Amino acid sequence: MRVLVTGGAGYIGSHTARALSEQGFEPVVLDDLGRGHRDAVRFGPFVEGDVGDRALVARVVDEHRIEAVVHFAAFTAVGESVRDPRTYWTNNTLKTFALIDTLVTSGVKNMVFSSTAATYGDPQTLPLREDHRLAPVNPYGATKLAVEMILRSYGDAYGLRWMALRYFNAAGAHPDGTMGERHDPETHLVPLTIEAALGRRPPLTVFGTDYATPDGTAVRDYIHVLDLADAHVRALRHLAAGGASEAVNLGTGTGNSVREIITTVEAVLGKKVPHTLGPRREGDPPSLVADPTRAKQVLSWTPRYTDIRELIETAARFHTSGAR
Ligand code: UFG
Repeated sequence: MRVLVTGGAGYIGSHTARALSEQGFEPVVLDDLGRGHRDAVRFGPFVEGDVGDRALVARVVDEHRIEAVVHFAAFTAVGESVRDPRTYWTNNTLKTFALIDTLVTSGVKNMVFSSTAATYGDPQTLPLREDHRLAPVNPYGATKLAVEMILRSYGDAYGLRWMALRYFNAAGAHPDGTMGERHDPETHLVPLTIEAALGRRPPLTVFGTDYATPDGTAVRDYIHVLDLADAHVRALRHLAAGGASEAVNLGTGTGNSVREIITTVEAVLGKKVPHTLGPRREGDPPSLVADPTRAKQVLSWTPRYTDIRELIETAARFHTSGAR
């Protein structure tokens, strides 16, 4: 199956392009390289361009005889979305609308979409199930929820078939050390903690130590990028086999605190993580943990990286391998 991978030069997109190619699919990457890395595209043809460019998308679909799409291309920084909502609505929602509309017109019926736990907003109950209310508390989550709504209505009206995968905290790297997480600017806890330990960044600031969590720091469900990639491959197979469209969580079901990430990085690297204790970051919920039951039922997906130490080991390998 020939699969268009938008954002395939990015973190999760590049790992998924690799998983697709390893599993016999033919990925074609479309990325504007605004935030992605050209050297991360190694598993199929590359087209540089914008997902909102209808003429380009129609041409790529036609030339590469695309049969399905995995749509990663988006901006993903929550804080930035609060300061600059225009860019987030434009990139994440308007351009995605153009993409979806062009695909439907071009006859491509199957789409897997990168959604997020940020669509839930502040959890009322934990772990989060897919039927939890959807009430995003930042523009990032709202732009992704809007796309879920577009998918649903295009599915009902025009026969588009879709899976929205609500990621929790993507982390880790390919265990061969050649690919991993490298955002610019970097805002994510795992790479910041590792690079602080390696002396490549200033000391980490722990955002909040007074949460109602076991050690007072915020808890997140860290899901390995290879487990995410595997879920996308399964979602494509599910759609190809005629499976129903729906949104599912991708998380492990277990949370780890910021302090636990620090102590795990210290154990893996054998180095202290220089850090200071700071106030809470605005908009951060105390705890976000997935109930991954639905993904198991629908996709027969179970995460392989359920031990945070193994996840951190893969990330640390990338950061110390020279590929970084
Ligand atoms: N944190 C720190 N110090 C830092 C960076 C992060 O203490 O320097 C803390 C945060 O406060 C949070 C945890 O580490 O408690 C994880 O923070 P990240 O920035 O790594 O990730 P988020 O949980 O904020 O966001 C992630 C994705 C978003 C997505 C969200 C949904 O990056 O794209 O999960 O749950 F929307």
